[in-house]
Amino acid sequence: MNKDPNDADAPARSTSNERSPEELLRIIFDYTAKIGRERSLSSVLLLMANMGREMILADRCTVWLIDYANQELFTTVAHGVNEIRVPLGSGIVGHSIAIGESLLIEDAYRDPRHNAENDRRTGYRTQSVITVPFVGNDGSIIGAYQAINKLTASGVFTGQDLEQLKLAAAYAGKSLESVMLQEEIQATQREIIYTMGQIGESRSKETGYHVKRVSEYSYVLALACGLSVEEAEQLKIVSPMHDIGKVAIPDAILQKPGKLTAEEYELMKQHTDIGYQLLKASGRQLLKTAAIIAYEHHEKWDGSGYPRGIRGEAIHLYGRITAIADVFDALGSKRVYKRAWELGRILELIREESGRHFDPQLVRIFMEQLPKLLEIRERYRDEHDLTNETGHL
Ligand code: C2E
Ligand code: SIN
Ligand code: SIN
Ligand code: SIN
Ligand code: FE
Ligand code: FE
Repeated sequence: MNKDPNDADAPARSTSNERSPEELLRIIFDYTAKIGRERSLSSVLLLMANMGREMILADRCTVWLIDYANQELFTTVAHGVNEIRVPLGSGIVGHSIAIGESLLIEDAYRDPRHNAENDRRTGYRTQSVITVPFVGNDGSIIGAYQAINKLTASGVFTGQDLEQLKLAAAYAGKSLESVMLQEEIQATQREIIYTMGQIGESRSKETGYHVKRVSEYSYVLALACGLSVEEAEQLKIVSPMHDIGKVAIPDAILQKPGKLTAEEYELMKQHTDIGYQLLKASGRQLLKTAAIIAYEHHEKWDGSGYPRGIRGEAIHLYGRITAIADVFDALGSKRVYKRAWELGRILELIREESGRHFDPQLVRIFMEQLPKLLEIRERYRDEHDLTNETGHL
């Protein structure tokens, strides 16, 4: 084996041999297990790149994904800190994606499709290139493997390397697609929840930090109840949706400056059922949690709440937590129909309602956590409530 005299930085070239079948199997088993457990897209991209590189002894290996909206290829490098983007049709890899076929190029500089721009910028010398497109479940192309320069004396990939990279693509491509879908779904869910929470908020003219405070109170109470950080975070994300059903309540009632008639109040109470009906059809965990709090945040511990009048622990803990967070905040806030209460009176009501409106255990936890809750109240204070409490309405 001759060492390339022009390439002092690549000692591996003179020492690497082809992988034995046993080594290949070990690499595939190890990596596909790791990739299957991974939930973050940038980690999957990195693991797949490393897998391809080790399998075929490439100097560099990159997993590119297609961003159709922006007509670009992108990838993340070195633990996902940086994202690299190139135009969709560019270079050998772009061509391979466009035609939906794998390519094996021995000398990139003899190929008109090669984009030498990168080499010029980095001082790297691309010689041999393999590209293998990934095909998604619906048959569309979602990205491609790109391997550059074989770490052997010749520096040139063989047909066998191509077959092995196709194998890697087949094994890891499914995980890649499912992680992409999962990220897409989660991003969509967060967006919908945020947007819906804002709609509910603006419809009932409860602007400012209102929704934010209830979220933060719920998080503190959930943790203090012994729920995991993950569960507390879920509750925090969805709690802005507890009043989403108010979108269906007429303005004349929602924004009525005075006390509601019995009839109007009956209509208003339907915001719980309506919110539940909107959300319950979803199979997604986050929206299921949202459905529970929309449905149960006005139930009371003694069974006198609505819409179902369920009692005690039959009310989901999420519902009991949101109930106390919601009332604590509603009382402290100005509404079209009422002034903001002073803190002393609010705490008095919460104590009085222990075992009636609220879960007594939760009232105890609430009082223990009060310093943290007040800190949140301070941090996200609304201007108009301030004015109100000092009496200049
Ligand atoms: P909201 O204003 O966010 O109030 C949420 C919950 O906080 C209320 O649920 C109630 O449990 C508690 N709360 C709020 N203000 C007071 C108060 O002055 N005194 C007492 N004891 N508790 C209070 P609730 O009663 O089921 O009301 C649900 C929603 O119906 C309210 O949400 C509000 O949007 C609307 N609403 C209730 N009463 C009236 C009213 O008299 N006029 C108008 N315009 N809307 C009302
Ligand atoms: C290509 O031209 O697409 C592969 C080589 C490179 O990107 O540097
Ligand atoms: C009601 O309007 O009957 C009760 C709502 C409230 O407590 O403000
Ligand atoms: C609402 O209940 O109307 C919004 C949240 C809150 O009042 O705390
Ligand atoms: Fe409500
Ligand atoms: Fe509310």
